[in-house]
Formats: sequence, structure tokens, C-alpha cells
Amino acid sequence: MTDKNLKSEIDKRRTFAIISHPDAGKTTLTEKFLLYGGAINLAGSVKGKATARHAVSDWMEIEKERGISVTSSVLQFNYGGFCINILDTPGHQDFSEDTYRTLMAADSAVMVIDAAKGVEPQTRKLFKVCAMRKIPIFTFMNKLDRDARDPFELLDDIENELGIPTCPMNWPIGSGKDFKGVYDRERRMIVVYSDTQKGTREGHTEEIPLSDKDRLLATLGDTAFEKLMEDVELLDGAGSEFDQDEVDAGMLSPVFFGSALTNFGVELFLQNFLKMTSSPLARKADTGIIDPSSSDFSAFVFKIQANMNKAHRDRIAFMRICSGKFTAQMEVLHVQGDKVMRLSQPQQMMASERHIVDEAYAGDIIGVFDPGIFSIGDTVCSPNVKFAYEGIPTFAPEHFARVRQIDTMKRKQFVKGITQIAQEGAIQIFHELNTGLEEIIVGVVGVLQFEVLKYRLENEYNVEIRMDTLPYEHIRWIANAENIDINKLSGTSDMKKVTDLKDRPLLLFINSWSIGMTLERNEGLELEEFSRN
Ligand code: G4P
Repeated sequence: MTDKNLKSEIDKRRTFAIISHPDAGKTTLTEKFLLYGGAINLAGSVKGKATARHAVSDWMEIEKERGISVTSSVLQFNYGGFCINILDTPGHQDFSEDTYRTLMAADSAVMVIDAAKGVEPQTRKLFKVCAMRKIPIFTFMNKLDRDARDPFELLDDIENELGIPTCPMNWPIGSGKDFKGVYDRERRMIVVYSDTQKGTREGHTEEIPLSDKDRLLATLGDTAFEKLMEDVELLDGAGSEFDQDEVDAGMLSPVFFGSALTNFGVELFLQNFLKMTSSPLARKADTGIIDPSSSDFSAFVFKIQANMNKAHRDRIAFMRICSGKFTAQMEVLHVQGDKVMRLSQPQQMMASERHIVDEAYAGDIIGVFDPGIFSIGDTVCSPNVKFAYEGIPTFAPEHFARVRQIDTMKRKQFVKGITQIAQEGAIQIFHELNTGLEEIIVGVVGVLQFEVLKYRLENEYNVEIRMDTLPYEHIRWIANAENIDINKLSGTSDMKKVTDLKDRPLLLFINSWSIGMTLERNEGLELEEFSRN
């Protein structure tokens, strides 16, 4: 393949994550995207978390019992000349550190917000991770076919809660029973709402230019028309102007209003989004910035999934390709293991099916068989180059429990099992500082991980455990640990000093007030919410 072909394959790729609070409409929107891409024929195929997502991965009993997916998946499809990779970020009870890590593999994010609710807690958490990476964030304000909050108020909510200025690209005319459509600001055109497109790909939408007053009045009625004119004036006078550079830097979020369920405004959003979002971004490695269209292949591991196939106890390492082209039989260097190898059984997801890949390009995600050598954040690259991508941060767990084995004779298996599971990145483990206690504190981002841990220790290591939940909700790494003597730190009475797997000191707190208090009491102390590896 010539360099030109390589570049055009990479240029057409768009790799993004959809983030939202549960029930805002992420699944529905994803499904509509797939529908436009022709990857599924009928709306409803990805929907029904209990059925379709289930088919994507059926690796653990817990998943089957609950009908939820613990794992996140990647969907690839083509639309309008683009090759799109959507990274699914698990939500609901299966919210875990993997949800955050998945965002490390995305080049941009679509934030779905329920227009009746505004910014919700899970949106906030996921947004923070995107903001840390400074990737472009696009907002889809969903469910306009239901009564929604005032659109100006919704934009204020994003700006105040998330600290990012917004730029409305279109504007809703009413909501709920009175929803009449949206005003496309760039084209100065009213797109009239109809719910007849529900579940279909095609569909005809009526459009009326803003200048055609008579038709608008006839279609919208006096009240909606006047309100629209007022809003248009306000929008033109105030608010942030669209600025592609600001969007690229993650400093301005373009906002689109619509209704995923009735298919209104979705294709318009997709088309505009694809234009505004970027092709695979260059990434930082220890040797400098790596250009995605470099002819040397490189990728990093952002997720490891154990036991997808119970009979084989294998693991799958998910990699984001960052540069060049991958071919199935190629030799690669696993940088951290300093070993040249072939990646076996490389696979990719197409809609909800897994299949073996022969080739893939920068921007794509592949899953490869992992004989237990990869860790989260590892780099693989062409053997003729050698560099390592920046590590993936460790994110703050929010739930903690003290864990011990019930049968004291099984201490060895217990420690081995829990350490291995922590190394895979499914949980984090901590030891209490200076207490001499052998108990282990487990921290997780989502509570389901506790169940996964219990299940895996029992089934894979034959160890039964007892878990006592602890009241801590906040964890802070000490950013300047080299200058601080943790033994001399004076915190609040509820504070606990622990160390992590890498022996780094950390503090656990029950409430955020104690964090402030501890900072006040210890001059020079710097705390951070995630730890760069
Ligand atoms: P999630 O993945 O973010 O959790 O949300 P999901 O798409 O599953 O949507 C949550 C609920 O909101 C679903 O209803 C879905 O049909 C509904 N929904 C999504 N987009 C819209 C929209 O634009 N307008 C309206 N009115 N509803 C929307 P459900 O009753 O929980 O599920 P189901 O019975 O429809 O499957």
C-alpha cells in the first residue's frame, strides 16, 4: 500500500465515545447512527440491553443473570465516506474504571443530555475525563419530543456545571406536545418536526427558510413564531460564536437539539459532527509526538478483559491503533515486555458481531488474544521503531471494602488471585499504612466490580471471601509524595492512609470537607484525583 492510500484510510476514520448519564438516550442514539450507516436494518437491534448487548459479550454469569454487559464494546460502520468507530462506555451498574479507560482511546466525545434533566452526575464524571484529555466534546440535547427545560437554561447548566462554553448549532422551537422543530442557525432554515421518521432510515422533512415569514407563521402559529424570532435575535446577539479551533481544543462544545427516539435531528447532527470532529489524533510518546499516518504501526492497550471464554480462561487485550496499518500476520514489538511477537486472533466488532481482522488502521480498535503479558497502557509497535505511549491514568475509585478470605489456609491463593485481578485493572487494591494488618482494601469505580471480584475469586481461584464495605468515598494520590512524609501528615479523624500496588501513598476520606481540611492543615501538600502511571 502506498503512503497515499494509508493516509486516505486514516483520514476517513472517526473514533469517538458517546457519554451520558443512564437513560439520557445513548443506546437509542447509537442505534440511529448504525441505522444510517446501514449496519443494522431495523431500529431496535442494538436496543434492549438485555438482548442485543448481551449477544456482544456473554462472558460471565453475572452478565447473564442481570442481562447487562460488564464489558464495553466497539462498533464500526461506514457512513458518508467515513469509517466510524463508536466506543461504548458502559453505564448503569456496570460503570467501572473501564468506562473511563475507554475514553483514552477516543478522539472526541458525544455527550448526550436529557433535555428535561440537564447535566447529571455520570455525565459530569465522564466529562471530566474528556476535559483532562482536551478532546473535542459535542452535545446532543435529547428528548425534545418530551417537555424539556428552557434551552438557554440548559446551556447555562452545561457552562456552569462543566465549565465549558457552548455554541448552539441549532435551536429548538418548543418541546413536548408543542415541539415544532429546530432552527438550523448556519443555513437559517427551520426544519419542521415530524415523528413519522421513527424507526426508518429514509424520511422527508419539511424545511422553511427563516425569511419565509408567511409559511413560518402558518406552520408554527403566532406564539411559537414570535418566540422563535425573539430567540434568534438573542442568539445572534449573545453567546459564543462557532470556532473550529476552540472546538478542536475541547474549549467549546457545539450543541445540537433533537430527539433520538423519533429520529429527529439525528442525521443532521451526525453529518455536522463528522465534519467538525477530527480524524485520528497524533499521540504523545516518550520519543515525541507520533503522527497517525506514519507508516510504522503502533497501538496501546486500554482495556483487558479476562475470561471472555470461560472454557479457555483467556484474556483479550483491547488496543487502539495510533499510527500506521495493522495486518494479521505482522510482527510487532511489545515495548514493555521487550519482545517481538505476533498478535494472535486479532478481532474487531462490526455492529454486534465479532470477527477476525486482516487489516486495520490508525483510529481502529482491535482485540487480541493475551496470554497474560499485557498490562493496561502498554505499547506495541513495528519492531524497527521503539517508543512507549504515555500511560493511562489510574482513576479514583469511589467505593471501598475490606476484603479477606474466609478460609485462612487459602491466604496464598487469595493474595495471588486478588493481585492478578488488580493487575488486570478490574479493581484497585490498597494496604493500610503501618498497621501490620494483612487485610486488603479494595477500591472500585462501580459497585458491580465487587461482585465481579467475588465471583472470579470463587470460580477461578477457589477462594471464598468476606467483604465489609467501608464508608470512604474520596481518594487522593499525593502528587508531591517525594517532598511529603506521609507519617507526619495530620488529617481529619476520618482519614485513612494507605498505599497502592505500586507503593504510592494515598489518602482516603469520607467526605470532601475533610480533603479541604487536610490540605489546610498540611502546608505544601498537593493532592490529585487520578494518578498518572
Ligand atoms: P441510555 O442508553 O442512555 O441508558 O438510554 P436509552 O437509549 O436506553 O434510553 C432510555 C429511555 O429513553 C428509553 O425508554 C428510550 O426509548 C427513551 N428515549 C431515548 N431517546 C428518546 C427521545 O428522544 N425521546 C423520548 N421520548 N424518549 C427517548 P425506556 O422506556 O426506558 O426503554 P424502551 O422501553 O423504550 O426500550
